Amino acid sequence: MGAAQASNRTDVVPLSYGSPASASFPYDALQQAASDAILTQGHAALQYSGADGPAVVRQWIAERSALRGIHVTPQEVLVTYGSGQAIDFACRAILEPGDHVWVEAPTFFGALNTFRTSEAVLASFPIDEQGLRVDLVEEALEHAVRENLPLPKLLYCIPNYHNPGGISLSVFRRKRLAELALAYDFFILEDDAYSELNFGAAYLPAIYSFAPQRTIYLGTFSKTIAPSIRLGWAIASQDTAVKLGSFFHGSRASAFTQQIIGNLLSSYSLETHIGQLISRYREQRDSMLKALDKHLQGAVEYAVPEGGFFVWLRFKEEVDTGELVKYASGHGVSFIEGQQFYLSPEDGKRYARLSFSYCEAEALELGIVRLAEAYQDYQAAQAAREV
Ligand SMILES: Cc1ncc(COP(=O)(O)O)c(C=O)c1O
Repeated sequence: MGAAQASNRTDVVPLSYGSPASASFPYDALQQAASDAILTQGHAALQYSGADGPAVVRQWIAERSALRGIHVTPQEVLVTYGSGQAIDFACRAILEPGDHVWVEAPTFFGALNTFRTSEAVLASFPIDEQGLRVDLVEEALEHAVRENLPLPKLLYCIPNYHNPGGISLSVFRRKRLAELALAYDFFILEDDAYSELNFGAAYLPAIYSFAPQRTIYLGTFSKTIAPSIRLGWAIASQDTAVKLGSFFHGSRASAFTQQIIGNLLSSYSLETHIGQLISRYREQRDSMLKALDKHLQGAVEYAVPEGGFFVWLRFKEEVDTGELVKYASGHGVSFIEGQQFYLSPEDGKRYARLSFSYCEAEALELGIVRLAEAYQDYQAAQAAREV
């Protein structure tokens, strides 16, 4: 999470944290929901459950998914311990050591770690302002067939408000990617952690909606309720969902936590809450972009994120953000250096992930002022070295 976080300094502005704003958690509603789960439903909710937990959570997820063109029954929803666990289960269900997995460049390092643990052979494809370069994926597939090279078993994609890229995959590319998965017989692991946090645009259809048999769709309550709830989900065709579920040994995702969230979803409008989150994060994004334009104008470029948590900065001049992060730490700001998000760390040297989700406007501006100072120092040190 960046050098500054590792040093445990409390005066550091943490632009490295990809965490929701703590002030945004629905404290009162959660308190009521938890209290009901214990005092009213405790007999069942606190007991070994053995099954999938209360149906209300899966029911809500199934209904909400229709917004993205996903039409499923609750039986096709597997509730997991966060979507991170679902990534792990998908790997276990689909991959053997040595199988090929294709990812975006850059991509979420948590997923990269899981693929590495699965001993997958990894290859990456660039993104641009419309998301993954599906045309390059198509070329690589054609090339693999021509040359008798291995095809991927799995392609991992973050279609909405990418971590770290901030951009979204165009509908045209979603459709094409789905067609490729069907034609070349690989699975798409569609990680949709951020799609509820859209600052303006309507929901785009999920890749899943174009190839349900070949897609495992992942969602999470981490960004909309709270991450330590640890509830996420996978949606897949019934046989794949059953396979994913088989990796729970014994009990499934906590039935007690599901009861709490079930109570919350029944008594509280998550839709209204999400509306408030969107206003908050849109304002925070605007504060960060305003500060970037004021203090680092001309030095960096970025695509304006239309949702999610992240701004993905590209420095116009050559820079090693792995070095810059140390200067930033000295100035009291943290960010994540681009290298963390690439298979070949060299590719990330000019990039930095800044998160606007965790800090409020004033801290965001302070963080950018400090980053600009750190960048000046870094450049001065580079210039001195060259003399
Ligand atoms: C793209 C992406 N996928 C998955 C996760 C993990 O989410 P969860 O808390 O549901 O495990 C994150 C969290 O940062 C993320 O950014």
